[in-house]
Formats: sequence, structure tokens, C-alpha cells
Amino acid sequence: MSSNTKGRTTIDVGADGVAVITIINPPVNSLALDVLYSLKENYEQALRRDDVKAIVVTGANGKFSGGFDISAFGKLQGGTVESPKPGFISVEILTDTVEAARKPSVAAIDGLALGGGLEVAMACHARISTPNAQLGLPELQLGVLPGFGGTQRLPRLVGLAKSLEMILTSKPVKGEEAVNLGLVDAVVPSNQLLGTARKWALDILECRKPWVASLHKTDKIEPLGEAREIFKFARVQTRKQAPNLQHLLVVIDVIEEGIVSGPLAGLWKEAEAFQALLHSDTCKALVNVFFAQRATTKVPGVTDLGLKPRRIKKVAILGGGLMGSGIATALLRSGYPVILKEVNDKFLQAGLGRVKANLQSSVKKGKMSQEKFEKTLSLLKGALDYEGFRDVDMVIEAVIENVSLKQQVFADLEKYCPSHCILASNTSTIDLNLIGEKTKSQDRIIGAHFFSPAHVMPLLEIVRTQKTSPQIIVDLLDVGKKIKKTPVVVGNCTGFAVNRMFFPYTQAALLLVERGADVFRIDRIITKFGMPMGPFRLCDLVGFGVAIATGGQFVMNFPERTYKSMLIPLMQEDKRAGETTRKGFYVYDDRRKASPDPEIKKYIEKAREMSGVTIDHKMAKLSDKDIIEMIFFPVVNEACRVLAEGIAVKSSDLDISAIMGMGFPPYRGGIIFWADTLGSKYICSRLDEWSRMYGDFFKPCSYLAERAAKGAPLSLTTDPAKSRL
Ligand code: NAI
Repeated sequence: MSSNTKGRTTIDVGADGVAVITIINPPVNSLALDVLYSLKENYEQALRRDDVKAIVVTGANGKFSGGFDISAFGKLQGGTVESPKPGFISVEILTDTVEAARKPSVAAIDGLALGGGLEVAMACHARISTPNAQLGLPELQLGVLPGFGGTQRLPRLVGLAKSLEMILTSKPVKGEEAVNLGLVDAVVPSNQLLGTARKWALDILECRKPWVASLHKTDKIEPLGEAREIFKFARVQTRKQAPNLQHLLVVIDVIEEGIVSGPLAGLWKEAEAFQALLHSDTCKALVNVFFAQRATTKVPGVTDLGLKPRRIKKVAILGGGLMGSGIATALLRSGYPVILKEVNDKFLQAGLGRVKANLQSSVKKGKMSQEKFEKTLSLLKGALDYEGFRDVDMVIEAVIENVSLKQQVFADLEKYCPSHCILASNTSTIDLNLIGEKTKSQDRIIGAHFFSPAHVMPLLEIVRTQKTSPQIIVDLLDVGKKIKKTPVVVGNCTGFAVNRMFFPYTQAALLLVERGADVFRIDRIITKFGMPMGPFRLCDLVGFGVAIATGGQFVMNFPERTYKSMLIPLMQEDKRAGETTRKGFYVYDDRRKASPDPEIKKYIEKAREMSGVTIDHKMAKLSDKDIIEMIFFPVVNEACRVLAEGIAVKSSDLDISAIMGMGFPPYRGGIIFWADTLGSKYICSRLDEWSRMYGDFFKPCSYLAERAAKGAPLSLTTDPAKSRL
């Protein structure tokens, strides 16, 4: 339902004189501006009416409120909404109308009270919640700060240190914890929620319970000296952990203003800061990510056909290695019975052991109870043959990356699995048509490309061929959702979307190094840009064997735009294969701590000789910006090819693929979003310049060149009719 047209609140006055105001805006009762105005109107009615003694605020359908309506962000940023200042509106509604009311109000919280939802609740004079309700202020994840008084009320309810933790980490607390913190006043089961809240409101009126205006509470706030130390520590930690995120420091300033100059000064500063952050690049980027992530499950020509996902009751996995065991873990955790097949008992036991260890690690981290662990593990069966495959609904193949082995495996699967069974492969690079060549079941063949570690990484690249049936895609999308992955549907080609973008990333880094740039400087700059690690540290982590195997596929399929470097093969020849051998570009100590290894110089010199290139003295003078662009513009170029070929249906899917598959910083909005902030013209001209200097590796593709010539953005929703999917 569009919150702009249908979001509202209702008022219902009971015989006890309590008016229940209910927020209604499915699915999460988000607070669009019209909902807030409706809340104000109903409050004013309740305050006017003689038959109303007290007020309870709640949300429809078991959810208090998921917070401010994010779909309004775009309109607010564009300035097309009549009243563009939510922060100031909140002072008017929550502080002046709700908190300063002559009648007490109590928030009855079930389900969730997040962001603006919790801020409404905190403006009430008491809060009652259910034990599992989630309460939190996650606004920083969208590049803004809590703009409805949350920066001022939360510290006064739970103390400075805890409020900073809750706001800076965006992590919600459950009702049980909230009551201990003082964020809620009582926790009751759902069926007692409204009754308790009504009674509580009347008790406040009769002075049997305290009438508390959160904004003016002082007992939880640390003394000023201590508060200053807390702020100092928070700033140091934030600068260290999130050096590129200015809004985290802004929120600390805003909270501090309230402590030093009083809550009203804090509220005004909060309103101003919200308004400024709303227009920041970070906020626009994070809002793009929010919507891009939700859009991944909308696949034109597939999800609009009205197909319902079939129930997957049992899954088989081939290969209990690194990926197979991770995939099994992810499926088991969501309650799918799994058969894990291996080639011999030794490998099978090793695979089963890996799954068990993954699950045990969840128990150690407190994410799974011992009882749940045992129940989950009982869903796992090992196998050395295909007998148990006769009633499986889905198979995910994760054997080694070898075409003929995979072809044989799929031919076997066709023989043993039922005719409705989904036949999925976790291949990283191999063309699915080739894998299915020896079967007649191409309509059931699909890629289910997980990322390592498969039970942790959030992305699932779903690869369809021209023959894959829409039903199979819909089924896999549903499984992806159930195992809590973000699925992105892409077309079939070498490397699909993520590895195609990854490849030029490593190649560009190798090209720069062979021409004289420093390996460790590149890694430092790329990490500072926001990647979890630089390209060379990443090569060490994935292992040179994998890098060479995937790289080989690209060299074979795209020779015209491949930079052929011998650096990694040379190092591997010398038994330097990355972190597992304790030596790669870095050396690793017993605790796997990486230190730059000066010895790599000799391999670089040799590789340079073999490539026939000489040191380019300009390399030493490259700025950080030049290095970032020389590494990422080839990625943008490849992303453009992926889009133009229809491998990705929409550019927002590539934004998500880059963020979740490559570790591209979300606060830059994704690869295409980021590129558009720089402009296609600029990117194209730089690529042109480098291609003249360093060859075709940098040559802008025709899509990029065309967009640049028109001065048009790169973002695009591909016409499904033209899609190769
Ligand atoms: P791995 O070498 O750790 O595991 C492969 C396992 O398959 C081995 O234990 C092997 O005994 C088993 N196997 C071989 N033939 C089999 C058969 N006929 N039946 C049952 N099991 C069989 O390899 P890894 O890394 O798990 O990769 C598996 C697949 O996943 C490959 O296609 C790879 O390209 C892909 N992949 C790998 C990623 C990675 O980071 N390692 C990431 C994404 C995909």
C-alpha cells in the first residue's frame, strides 16, 4: 500500500476513557508524513474530547512501526514534498503535541518499533512491550540520524553509553533487554499488551505510576565529566572503524549538544543535522542500496507471471568441500533436510565435520541453542551414491571446477533425481549450457552461485540460461529468501556478473604493479576507499589456485581485453599460493597476521620481463584518486558490458552484486551508482586516455562510450525483450 495515499491512524475511545490511536500503514506501519499528521490530528481530538482521560498509541497487525517512510526520502531529497523538514515536524508533533499533552499516553509495542517508530514511543509517557518486540534506531544505516528526537530521548532513557552503542551500531534490542535498560516500563505477552497499556495510562493519570517526559529525564545521564570521556572514546572508535562515514560523527555531536546545552537545543540541532544529512551523498547512496536490495527479487518476465514457488522438502548437495559444506550449513539452518554426497568416506566425513563445525560455531556465538543445534544436525545425512537422490526436490552441485566432471555429474543427476527436481550448479565461471550439454533437462538447470563462506556471505547469484524455466527461477528465489540470502538473477556467461566485475579489478592492479606501482600502496588505498581489503590481500585470501583457475576462464573467453600477467603463476610455481601456504604477496604468522613481503619484488621484476613492459615513472606519481580510478573504472567498464549484454536485468542488481559479492562500500551506493556520481563522460575520457597509454585493457566498451557521448547516466533498466537472460 502506498503510504502517501493510504497511511493513517485511527482513534477508538473505550468506556474506560482511554483513546487507542492505531498506526495503520502496511506492511510495517511506516511513518509517512500523512501518518504523522493523522497522528497529530487524532491526538488533538483526544486532548479536546472530555470523554478521553488518557491515550494509548499502538500499531496495527502486531507491529508498532518500522519507522519513517523511506520511500519519502527521494521526494524529500528532490524537494517535491510540500513540507520538506521532517525533523522540525517531529518537534511540533512529538514534543509539543504528544509529550507536552495534558493527558498521559502510553505506547503499546508489539513486533517492532524501529527508527521513527521508537521515537514516537519514546515521546509517550511510558512504554509497554512484548518480550520479542524489536526496538532500535537504525537510521545511520540510511546515512541520516534519528530525526524525531531519538538522539535526545534515548540517552535520557538508557544512559549515554548504551544509547551511543544502540545508535552507532543500529542494532535493535528485544523487549526483555529493553525493560532492563529502562527503555520500556513493562514486558507482557501480546494478548495482555493493550489491556496493560490502558491500565498503565490510567495509573499515570491517577499518580499511581510516574508521569515521565523522556526529554527532561536526568537520572540516567552520566555526569558531564564522564559524559565528555564517553564522547571522546566514541569519536576515536568511530574514526578508526568507519573513517569514511561522517554522519556517525555528526550524530555524536548532536547527542553532545543535548547534554551540554540542554535537550531543546539538542532537538533543534538534530532537526538541522537530519535535514543536512538527508541531502548528503552518503544518504542518497544508502537509500539507493535499500531499494536496490528490495528490487532484486523483481525479475521482469519471471516474477510477474503469477507463478508460485513450489515447496522444497529435501535438498541434495554434491561435494562436501569448502563450498558444499557451507551451502549445506545455510540450508540446514533454515530447516531444509540435506543429503551431502562425496566421493569416498574420508572426504565425506571431512565434509560432514565441516558442517558440524559451522553449526557449532553458531552455538558458541550464542546464535543457536544446543537443542536447536542437535535438531539441525539431525537433518543432515551423508551419502556415497545417488540412492537417496530419488526423492529430492533440489540438488546443488559443488564439485571441483572441472567441465567434464560437472558434465558427468549432471548426466548422473538426470538419471537418479525425480523429473521435477531443480538441478543447480555452484560453478563460479563455467557456462551452464556446457555443464548441461549431456542432459535433456536443460530447462531444470540453473546456477546457484554462492560466495565463500557460503553460510555467511549474503549474496546468491542465480544464473539462468535461455532454457531455464521461470518456475525453477521462482523456486530458487524462494529458497534464497528462506535461507536469508539476497538473490540476484543474472544471465549465463563466463563468470556471470560478480566474477566478471571482479576480474578486471585484479587485472588492473597487476597491470599497475608491473609498471612500477607499489603492491602495498595499492592495497592501502583501496582499503581506505572502503573495500574490506585490497586486491593483493584478497588474492592471498582466495588462494592463487582459485585465482589462476578463474582467471584462465577469462583469458580464454575474453582474450582481447585481458591483461596477461605472469606474476601470480610465477609466485605459485615457487610454492607461494596465498594465505594457506603462509606466503603470497604477504607473509603470514601463526595467527594469520599479514605483513608485506619485500621478497615479492623479484617476482614482479621477472613478470615484468616476461610481459615485456618497462617501469613507467608516472606510476610513482599517481595520486590515490588515480589509483582508485585505474582499478575501479575497468570494473565499471565491465559492469557496463554486463548491462549491455542483458546479463543483468537492471543496474541496481549490479550495485547489489558489487556490494555483496565484491565488498564494494555500500555507502558509495554500488558500482553503477558510484560511477554515475562521477559521470559517464569523465570515466570514458579517463579510460580512453589509459587505453592509449596502456592498451585495450582500458578501452571503454561501446555502451559506456555511447552513454558518455550523450552525457547520459550509466544506470539502466534493461528492456527484458533484449535481455540475453
Ligand atoms: P573443494 O575442492 O573444496 O570441494 C570439492 C569437493 O567435491 C571435494 O571434496 C571433492 O571430493 C568433491 N567431489 C568431486 N567429485 C565429486 C562427485 N562426483 N560427487 C561428490 N563429490 C565430489 O572445492 P570448492 O572450493 O568447494 O568449490 C566447489 C565448486 O564451487 C567449484 O565449482 C567452484 O568453482 C565453486 N565455487 C568456489 C568458490 C570458492 O571460493 N572456493 C566460490 C564460489 C563457487
